[in-house]
Amino acid sequence: MKLKFSIIISFVCSFVFSQNNSFVPGKQWKDTNGMHINAHGGGIVFVDGTYFWYGEFKTSGRSGNTSLEGISCYSSKDLYNWKNEGIVLKVDQDPNSEITKGCVIERPKVIFNKKTGKYVMWFHLELKGQGYNAAKAAVAISDSPKGPFIFKKSYRPNKGVWPIDFKEENKTGSANEDALKSWSPEWLTAIKNGMLVRKDFEKGQMARDMTVYVDDNGKAYLISSSEENLTLHISELTDDYLDFTGKWTRVAPAGHNEAPAIFKKDGVYYMITSGCTGWDPNAARSFKSKSIWGPWESLGNPCIGPDAELTFHSQSTYIVPVQGKKDQFIFMADRWNPKNPIDGTYIWLPIKLEKGKPVLKWLDQWNLSTFSENQ
Ligand code: DGJ
Repeated sequence: MKLKFSIIISFVCSFVFSQNNSFVPGKQWKDTNGMHINAHGGGIVFVDGTYFWYGEFKTSGRSGNTSLEGISCYSSKDLYNWKNEGIVLKVDQDPNSEITKGCVIERPKVIFNKKTGKYVMWFHLELKGQGYNAAKAAVAISDSPKGPFIFKKSYRPNKGVWPIDFKEENKTGSANEDALKSWSPEWLTAIKNGMLVRKDFEKGQMARDMTVYVDDNGKAYLISSSEENLTLHISELTDDYLDFTGKWTRVAPAGHNEAPAIFKKDGVYYMITSGCTGWDPNAARSFKSKSIWGPWESLGNPCIGPDAELTFHSQSTYIVPVQGKKDQFIFMADRWNPKNPIDGTYIWLPIKLEKGKPVLKWLDQWNLSTFSENQ
């Protein structure tokens, strides 16, 4: 009876709520049930003709940025119309669980592992009641893109291993470096030379904002905002994508980057990030490199137009390759709403490459044919 009723409701909804045929950045984005999509800080995986969008399920009011339900998932064939697939990683009711209700789960990203046939979800985890001090990367696993995802483990990555290109002389710091004044030139130099890498060497490196990237050869990487968000770390994952191999590097030391998102075109990796201003927007940054291991060249702010210095009031989260279309990439960002997180909206814009640099231009409304018009 209950099942019949929900079938009738979703049938009626599909008539009442018209189909989307464009992206309208920053406005309410209704799912196929007519509800604003609730998948913030998200990422997308493509499986057999369907895109799956995973994100933070936010709630209303002050506690809405803590995880009271878990990670949501939506599916779509066309990137415009999304069906709610429910909560695919549920927070735990057990107060002793690391993912107990009220912890912080941010920026979930799912990748498929061809060798194991499993869907692997990585996310940034903060333990309940500890603010942002835990700074952990966590992993969950599922047999299906629709979940359920089972929480496996949380990490401080790269415990006891130096980055691949770390200078021998930086493995020991100077006696008084802890006393340096934050943001002084001496302190910045000490950060660049790995003061915080040394500090967390035994415990494992911090990992806050993050994304995961699977390369053409199947190797996967966690890219995280580490060292108190001052330096990005790129860490290679093991073949099953559940752990770290110990091979890692630092990008833009002391550059203060968050919100990494990455894509690859013609053998070149491009990364878009943000600065660090909490839930407030700031100017995006971009980088490129011929190797995932660097050197990463800084390319400046990719945004153009009004409010470009605020990333159009948003912060990057992911870059979606449009399937079946060579070189079409969509920049995904969040327009956070910390007073009522559930109301946060999404900024999706086409990425153009101009003179070897990614460029994001504001569009009030657009659709996938915009790419061919631009090419
Ligand atoms: C900015 C980050 O990008 C978000 O994911 C979140 O961690 C907020 N900071 C918290 O202030």
